[in-house]
Amino acid sequence: MTSQYDGSDRYKSTGDGIYDPKDGAPVEKGELNILHPQRINPPGLPGEFYTPFGPAVGYRQLSKKLIRKLNKICDNHAKGRKKLESHARSLIGKVTEEPEIPKDIALEVIDELYEFLCTYIALVKSREIKQNVGPPPGTKFTFRPVSAWFVRQYANDYNPIHIHTGCNMSCIGYLKVPPGIALDRKKDTKNDLFSSHGLTEFVFTNGTFDTLPQAGNYRIAPEVGDFWVFPATLQHQVYPFKTKGERRSFSMNMNFDMEKITPQDTGGWQEMKG
Ligand SMILES: [Fe+2]
Repeated sequence: MTSQYDGSDRYKSTGDGIYDPKDGAPVEKGELNILHPQRINPPGLPGEFYTPFGPAVGYRQLSKKLIRKLNKICDNHAKGRKKLESHARSLIGKVTEEPEIPKDIALEVIDELYEFLCTYIALVKSREIKQNVGPPPGTKFTFRPVSAWFVRQYANDYNPIHIHTGCNMSCIGYLKVPPGIALDRKKDTKNDLFSSHGLTEFVFTNGTFDTLPQAGNYRIAPEVGDFWVFPATLQHQVYPFKTKGERRSFSMNMNFDMEKITPQDTGGWQEMKG
């Protein structure tokens, strides 16, 4: 099984080229402003503000069916019914266990998220060159899993800051989150301001505060079914927590290619016009 998608129809048919995979609606106008700054001062507003720098992270929710399936595979491993290989020797996590996800299952994950991943690639490329672009006619995006694994984290386990190597992009999907982790944060006895128990944190660059504020990091609270995709070189880490229970996530490293599906010479990326 391969995950393939001829994006040309989708991207060409509706004009601007980047759409919400849920309902097909164009992405927020704010995002388009990054690509095509209007350089106007809208009546009644103080001005326009753009955020054209830095990497983008993508979010969507996993289907309940996929969450169930992934949890069942991991549960079967945990109960000794069908053991998975360990992937821990390739990872830096200080966690209880990191069993490998079989390739056919990794491809199923890609299949479910395929349009979302295509949209993400088009978005990050568009942000880079400041034009709305999609795959040229006669090409398709293909995503290949390099590796995939579960992360089984319990109290006091953590994942030091790191990047992923040997791939273009990576992702995190949450499969189990003990409710006590949120309570840990609310009742943090050390200091409940900005408590970080069990959070995942992306770190891009230095933050600033005393001069002009600038975000250098982005912390997310894990919720079952949440799925995040990000550039493999974006640093990230996971904080420990104290409560009982398993915080279970999965990650997958992926490479993507644009491949010709017709003999024509497609050249570079195609600018999307309305
Ligand atoms: Fe990671």
